[in-house]
Amino acid sequence: MNTEILRTEPKSIDIAAQILKNDEIVAIPTETVYGLAGNGLSADAVKKIFKAKGRPNDNPLILHISSVDWLYRYAENVPDLALKLAEKFWPGPLTMIMSKKNIVPEETSGGLDTVAFRMPNNQWTLKLIEACDFPLAAPSANLSGLPSPTRAGYVYNDMKGKIPLIIDGGQCSYGLESTVIAFTENGVKILRPGGVTPEMLEQLCRVEIDKAVTEGLKDGDKALSPGMKYKHYSPKAEVFMVKCDDNDSFADFVNKNFDDYTIVLAKKAENIKAKTLPYGRTAKQEAEKLFTSLRKADEMGAKKIYVQAPNEEGIGLAVYNRLIRAAAFKVIEL
Ligand code: TXA
Ligand code: MG
Repeated sequence: MNTEILRTEPKSIDIAAQILKNDEIVAIPTETVYGLAGNGLSADAVKKIFKAKGRPNDNPLILHISSVDWLYRYAENVPDLALKLAEKFWPGPLTMIMSKKNIVPEETSGGLDTVAFRMPNNQWTLKLIEACDFPLAAPSANLSGLPSPTRAGYVYNDMKGKIPLIIDGGQCSYGLESTVIAFTENGVKILRPGGVTPEMLEQLCRVEIDKAVTEGLKDGDKALSPGMKYKHYSPKAEVFMVKCDDNDSFADFVNKNFDDYTIVLAKKAENIKAKTLPYGRTAKQEAEKLFTSLRKADEMGAKKIYVQAPNEEGIGLAVYNRLIRAAAFKVIEL
């Protein structure tokens, strides 16, 4: 199959809608990462998504919708709090899990009786969903296990020959996937942290953070979000998260331990003798750069990547959550 890349313009949206209506799949831009989209109400389309990614079929997909009203089409008992959160954070990087109606096939929900919803903040993707008039099931558009793609070229690397079309919307502004929440008796529980931070949610409701966010699951623990139990976000090189109090001790550690195949993501690159890639001094910049730099390190032939641990506040919690998985929980404490 030939994989075409088209830029965001009305004609591309028409072409993509036609492909999606035929139960084929298309990569789409969002503000978080690129998604691999298909008709979320079609078991056939959804099976193609799992196949193209090599994704375990018990890992459920997010339904992307273009209007809050659509919740009533696909969810049973929409919580009032969901409407409040939608009003504040949609379109945007917040995914909410609710009970599903039967119209949503089990293939989409990975066999669960719940389904996740998100309204992405990308005008072209919203137009595409409108044109389809069905929700787009879309996981991140990477091969299962690799870092999520933040630009069309990275989608192409993973999906060429497997899908007919990539819509190129440029670089994703967040660079990390959305915050995933479930509703509790009196608030929400964060299953995967993202651009809508615990601090932002706390303005509106009680917030719990699932312990799988910062820790690995132990044998016998049940994954509330099935995606959290798989090895994830990893480049080919071995990644280490390095926890330290200050930039100088990180630089000292790296300068003692690097070789020609080491790449470093540091908050401050000046005193580091190893090759470095863009990262950031703020959590927002780290979120934007993490996946892009992990992919770049692979392109440069890295065997070992040292990444300075983020501060866990705000969007830093999301960076921490992705990084510790990319590192397969290998943490070096200085
Ligand atoms: O930003 C994003 O969320 C991107 C863009 C494309 O929208 N999508 C994305 O999808 O990251 P994916 O499939 O890579 O991650 C979805 C996560 C997985 O960890 C999955 O297990 C969890 O959400 N999830 C989906 N439906 C769920 C459900 N019903 N119950 C619990 N977890 C669910
Ligand atoms: Mg993913």
